[in-house]
Amino acid sequence: MTATPYDPISIEQYRQDDLAYVAQTTPFGKQLIMVRSAGAKVWDAAGKQYLDFIAGIAVNNVGHTNPEVVEAVVAQARTMLHVNVFGKTLLPVQVELAKALSRVTPPGLDKIFFTNSGTEAIEGAIKLARRSTGRHKIVAFEGGFHGRTCGALSISWRDVYRQPFEPLLPGVTFIPFDDLAAAEQAITDEVGMVIVEPIQGEGGVHVPSDDFLPGLRALCDQRGATLALDEIQTGFGRTGRFFACEHWGVTPDILVVAKAVGGGMPLGGFIARPEVMNLLTDPPLSHMTTFGGHPVSCAAGLASLNIILRDKLAERAERVGAHIQERLRAMQQRYPVIVDVRGKGLMIGLEFATPELTKAIVGRAQELGVILSWSIYAGGTVRIAPPLNIPEVEVEQGLAIIEQAIRETPA
Ligand SMILES: Cc1ncc(COP(=O)(O)O)c(C=O)c1O
Repeated sequence: MTATPYDPISIEQYRQDDLAYVAQTTPFGKQLIMVRSAGAKVWDAAGKQYLDFIAGIAVNNVGHTNPEVVEAVVAQARTMLHVNVFGKTLLPVQVELAKALSRVTPPGLDKIFFTNSGTEAIEGAIKLARRSTGRHKIVAFEGGFHGRTCGALSISWRDVYRQPFEPLLPGVTFIPFDDLAAAEQAITDEVGMVIVEPIQGEGGVHVPSDDFLPGLRALCDQRGATLALDEIQTGFGRTGRFFACEHWGVTPDILVVAKAVGGGMPLGGFIARPEVMNLLTDPPLSHMTTFGGHPVSCAAGLASLNIILRDKLAERAERVGAHIQERLRAMQQRYPVIVDVRGKGLMIGLEFATPELTKAIVGRAQELGVILSWSIYAGGTVRIAPPLNIPEVEVEQGLAIIEQAIRETPA
């Protein structure tokens, strides 16, 4: 079933009303008006179908509008929406998801504080690291992205996004990603937290050397700092393991999740060992949220988690991702404008010679029916992150369209 097309007059009206009534964060207006989604496909208001090769930016790991997730959402919504009263209300569905998550997190990381989004989960992680170490200094990484609220912005790279909102949190040092010598210098015994994405997403899909995360773990242990891994983009099977840290056998002190955890509903969380998380009880209500861990989001998250495990989607991501990388490398032989292909599982970066060319290729692919996205900090790198259960035939269709877009875009 495709989407029923809207008439051109109402499409134009939506465009005008969006500009008039919805906050814009770019001066360009929005291109796509989306009205329906299923699996790896989305449809715009004119009825045009697209293959979504970024999956809401690594959100829809089990596919858009997954019927089992929808079922769970509807059942929960019919039963109970919001009743939370801080510190007093136990929500069985929230407990079920927390328990299920503890079975897939690295050993010992058994307690989660649920939030609504990634940036809020990062805020909580910053507070927990301060609380557990008594230190406020943070080491973060060039090219790292952790969100847009003030704490998360303070530890995210790129002056252009930071300067207009300064002063931000004090005591943050940025060092190059994948540089253990710089880490050795920066992680002193005054540092409370080291925060890193195991594979950088918005920085342009950078996979570190094999010794990088184990090296950070050792330095944090030596100097008494909390190691926080931001797995907001890399988690839930995306990179070919349930969490990307498993590629290197590293267990963080705090694991931050969002995006795919809610199966398409707003949900996030920071996860730690019980004795660390329990510090938030002193003083009581040290951290709170009205909607974090909403029953409907938790029901969706449980359904989605079950699908990822039952259908072995992490293993599938590893296999399908390797195939896509192989196909893109073959394209690289034919089109020298492709500078690099990199990534793990279904988190793949495709780098072109210039940001302008990248933009043109992304635009042409969209006209031809594939949605791609460049990275916030790396305009030359296109991110490929489809749903983990995208059918193979759609992978081939998408790759053929990407190749056509490259062929038809003047270098
Ligand atoms: C690695 C990483 N951390 C944090 C965030 C922020 O998450 P949210 O947009 O849910 O606030 C993102 C979002 O793109 C992300 O990719």
